[in-house]
Amino acid sequence: MSNNRPHVLIVGCGYVGRRLYARFADRYDVTALVRTARSAAGLTEAGMRAVALDLDRPRSGARIPERLEQESIVYLVPPSSFSESDLRLDRFLQLATVPPRSFVYVSSTGVYGDTSGAPVDESAPLNPRTPRARRRVSAEEMTRVWCTERCVRRVVLRVAGIYGPGRLPLERLRRQEAVVRAEEAGLSNRIHVDDLVSACVAAVTNDEARGVYNVSDGHPLSSTAFLLKVAELAGLPPPPQVSMEEAQLTFSPERLSFLNESRHVLNGRMLKHLGVELRYADYERGIRDSLAGWR
Ligand SMILES: NC(=O)c1ccc[n+]([C@@H]2O[C@H](COP(=O)([O-])OP(=O)(O)OC[C@H]3O[C@@H](n4cnc5c(N)ncnc54)[C@H](OP(=O)(O)O)[C@@H]3O)[C@@H](O)[C@H]2O)c1
Repeated sequence: MSNNRPHVLIVGCGYVGRRLYARFADRYDVTALVRTARSAAGLTEAGMRAVALDLDRPRSGARIPERLEQESIVYLVPPSSFSESDLRLDRFLQLATVPPRSFVYVSSTGVYGDTSGAPVDESAPLNPRTPRARRRVSAEEMTRVWCTERCVRRVVLRVAGIYGPGRLPLERLRRQEAVVRAEEAGLSNRIHVDDLVSACVAAVTNDEARGVYNVSDGHPLSSTAFLLKVAELAGLPPPPQVSMEEAQLTFSPERLSFLNESRHVLNGRMLKHLGVELRYADYERGIRDSLAGWR
C-alpha cells in the first residue's frame, strides 16, 4: 500500500463497503471504519486497513482516520433507530476535521414515501412516512450543511433495495413465508450490489458529480414478483400468497412499512450524469449471477 496515493475513508464497511474497498484498492489508499473490533480484525485478516469506532458510543478523545490528502469519505453506516435524526452521522461529522474533496452519503429511496406507483426522480418532494425514512431525510440535510460550510463536493445516493450474492431472500423462501398476492402488491425497486458499488465509485471519481442521484436498476416490480423469480431460479417452491387484507393483520410492522409504499424510482440522472453503466439492468441476470456466486 503506497502512502502517496489519495486517501478514501469508507465509513461502515459491511456488505457494500467490503466490495467498494476491493474496487478502490488499486488506485487509492483506503481505510475502513467499522463499529466493532471484531469486524475490524476480520477486515484486517482479509488484507484491508480497518479501525473500530462505535459512533453510538465514541470513546472520549476518539479520532477518525484522516489524511491531509483526503480524496473522499464514503459514508455507509445506517442510522440507529434511537431517535428521529441520525445521531451516528452527527457524531461522525463532529469528529471529522479534514474536509475531503468529496463526501458521498448512501441514503435510501424510502425518503420519497408512497407515490402509489408513480415515477419519482430526484426533484420529487420528500415524503418520509416512517421514522427510518425521516432519519434519512435528516441525515441528507446534515451532510448538505456540513459540506456547504466546508466547500466539499457532496453526493447523495438514494439507494433502492440491495440484492446480490448472499443477499437473496432464500431463507424466507425455504421457510415458505407468505407474500402478498402479486396483483395486490405495489411496486418496489432494486439494485444489484455490484452496480451500487459502481455508483459509489462514480460519485468519487466523476468531478462533475454533485447533488442527489437515485440508484436503482430502473425496472420496478413487486416484491412478490421478485421473490417468485428468485424461487424459480433457485429451484425452490413458490411462497404461499395471501391478500393484502390478511397481510395487514399478520405481517410485522417492519414488513408492512415496505409493502404499504409503492413507487417507480427513475434512474436517468444516475445513468446520464453520474455515468454509471449498469451490469444488471436485467434483474433476472442479476439473480442468476448472485445464485451462481453463492451456492
Ligand atoms: N439493505 C438495503 O436494501 C438498503 C437499501 C438502501 C440503503 N441501504 C443502506 O446502505 C448502507 C450499506 O448497507 P450494507 O448492507 O453494506 O450494511 P451492513 O452490511 O449492515 O454494514 C454496515 C456497516 O456499518 C457499520 N456500523 C454500524 N453501526 C455502526 C456504528 N454505531 N458505528 C460505526 N460503524 C457502524 C458496521 O460495523 P460492524 O461491521 O462493526 O457492525 C458495518 O461495517 C447502509 O446505510 C444501509 O442502510 C440499504
